[in-house]
Amino acid sequence: MAKLAGVSTSTVSRVLAHSRGVRADSKRKVEAAAAQLGYHHNAVARALRTRRSNTIGMLVPQISNPFFPALVEAIERRLQRENLELLLCGSQGDTEIEARRLNTLVERQVDGIIISPCDYRASEPAVRNALDRIRLIQVDRRVEGVVTDWVGVSDEAGFAQVVDHLVKLGRRKLVFVSSELTNYSAHTRLDAFTAALHKHGLSSALPPMLGSFEVEWGKAAAELLLPHLSDVDGIVCGNDAIALGMLRGLRAASVRVPGDVAVTGFDGISFAEISDPPLTTVHQRWETMADECVRVLLDPADHGPRNIAIMPILQVRESTVGS
Ligand code: RIB
Repeated sequence: MAKLAGVSTSTVSRVLAHSRGVRADSKRKVEAAAAQLGYHHNAVARALRTRRSNTIGMLVPQISNPFFPALVEAIERRLQRENLELLLCGSQGDTEIEARRLNTLVERQVDGIIISPCDYRASEPAVRNALDRIRLIQVDRRVEGVVTDWVGVSDEAGFAQVVDHLVKLGRRKLVFVSSELTNYSAHTRLDAFTAALHKHGLSSALPPMLGSFEVEWGKAAAELLLPHLSDVDGIVCGNDAIALGMLRGLRAASVRVPGDVAVTGFDGISFAEISDPPLTTVHQRWETMADECVRVLLDPADHGPRNIAIMPILQVRESTVGS
């Protein structure tokens, strides 16, 4: 690139690092060479100064899960205030589809990408490849080993609030029902639940039950739990979809919630308010998440990767405090 630009290699690196005191014509030559070579250094592609399409791409693991539409709508509304459009893709929890969608978004010349990667490890190559070509931040989930700006809630704080709440109600025999450990959220939530129990000198009443962030898994887990309910007085679910399925499965077996066993969720989706009984959950504050995502995405300064963990809010309802 230095040869093509007709400058020294040290000038190239100072331009890419946005160092001060670089002559304007040298900066112009390096950026022209970078564009000609299709070289998108993190620093060069980092800011959205070159707004080519006024569009931001967003990629989520499961459009059908109510948490993601809530987050997507919040981000779309926030982008509109900046005269930016949103182009949404779903990866259907499949890393090959995810890689194809990422490539499509880059080729469609979006100005930046917001992604919640579907797999903690297997999503890494595609995220790394996109990061070398375009401004990219991770929201909610992230991949191990790729350091970017990240915005999400503190799962640790969220599950600490849930366990504190149940312990205050006298519940001591807690079990964790969540997704298998293929994604970031599943990992951090199991760790957070375990740490919260230890803080109270407790251990899990049964081994964690790990399936998927789906209603169907909640119903199946309810059936699996029935023979063990004498050992359990609180069921902590990794998200609201699982908890709603759990409530359905327990009701089908005439198990009283919370009389026989309390149930909690995580996300704060609207259905949690109208379930029977209404679900105690943790709200992920996606409006705040959206504000922070767009603020970070549009910030041209190169602060280096930032972790922005938002404090979630416990929403107490009848699935823990009812009769
Ligand atoms: O409900 C889907 C889950 O996956 C949410 O809790 C969200 O945090 C995502 O990680």
